[in-house]
Amino acid sequence: MNRRASRIDIYNILETVSSSEQVQLQLKSWRAESMRIGFVPTMGALHEGHISLLRKAQEQCQKVIVSIFVNPTQFNDAKDLSNYPRTLERDSRLLEANGLDLLFVPSAKEMYPNGLQKETYEFGSLTVGMEAANRPGHFDGVATVVSHLFDACSPDVAFFGEKDFQQLQIIRALVSLQNRPIEIVGCPIMREESGLAMSSRNQLLSPEARQNAAVIYKSLKELREQAHKVEPKKLKEDFKEKLKGIPNAELEYIKICDERGLLEVNELNSNEQLRAFAVVRFEGVRLLDNLSLFP
Ligand code: PAJ
Repeated sequence: MNRRASRIDIYNILETVSSSEQVQLQLKSWRAESMRIGFVPTMGALHEGHISLLRKAQEQCQKVIVSIFVNPTQFNDAKDLSNYPRTLERDSRLLEANGLDLLFVPSAKEMYPNGLQKETYEFGSLTVGMEAANRPGHFDGVATVVSHLFDACSPDVAFFGEKDFQQLQIIRALVSLQNRPIEIVGCPIMREESGLAMSSRNQLLSPEARQNAAVIYKSLKELREQAHKVEPKKLKEDFKEKLKGIPNAELEYIKICDERGLLEVNELNSNEQLRAFAVVRFEGVRLLDNLSLFP
């Protein structure tokens, strides 16, 4: 195969490939030099949160691969999938400016040669609540695509954000289930100046809603301040009350769970690492956030 000719030099700057074969070819030469390979999977519409993962990867690895693939099997709402922002040209420039080594942009056919099917997985308590309960089949779609991406990129280390904490724990479980020799590194949540957790979906909000959405982080911090003296039930009620006064805010859930099993707790036990998780809709856009309660 003529590697140069088969590259998609979309913008003639960043090395961009679309097939697993091309990734493997590149990996072969890096591996020949015993390089440690980092991998950051994304769905594009990149922001500082994604770039923070890239930076962490660059600190720990000699070469880094980023993938951009809007994965149809993890969306349970066709409208959400079609509305998902796609900004490949901008993303590519941003990654190039940040010194990325290889961008992998597979097609749906490349990721799912036998059609858009997802595997079903058993992740125990990790897939009982929160996003698993609210978006049936979502994590099977995530685990399926991440598994395919790991096959294609076979990294030494992969980087995931704590923004999607349940996803992070599920990926750790996936790697252990499949016995993959891949280290999973969790990275802290990057926030806008207002405190709103950065998300590709934030750009779907009106400026007013984007400002109002800062209430999510503010209320999570207030919940944390009370966490050592107030029971979880009351902490969650107070959180709900705070959202009531905010225009267009619709609370989907507020939960306090142990970080390992992601099961809700009714009592605060300082031996457990606990985290509060919230999903709030503004103008129909689902915004996720979470905060560790006893850092
Ligand atoms: P995506 O939403 O594009 O996120 C890619 C990675 O960026 C995830 O690990 C996510 O947790 C992280 N991330 C997003 N916002 C962040 C923030 N504000 N601070 C820190 N990290 C942040 O998550 C997915 O894509 C997909 O489910 C994927 C894993 C790529 C599988 O399709």
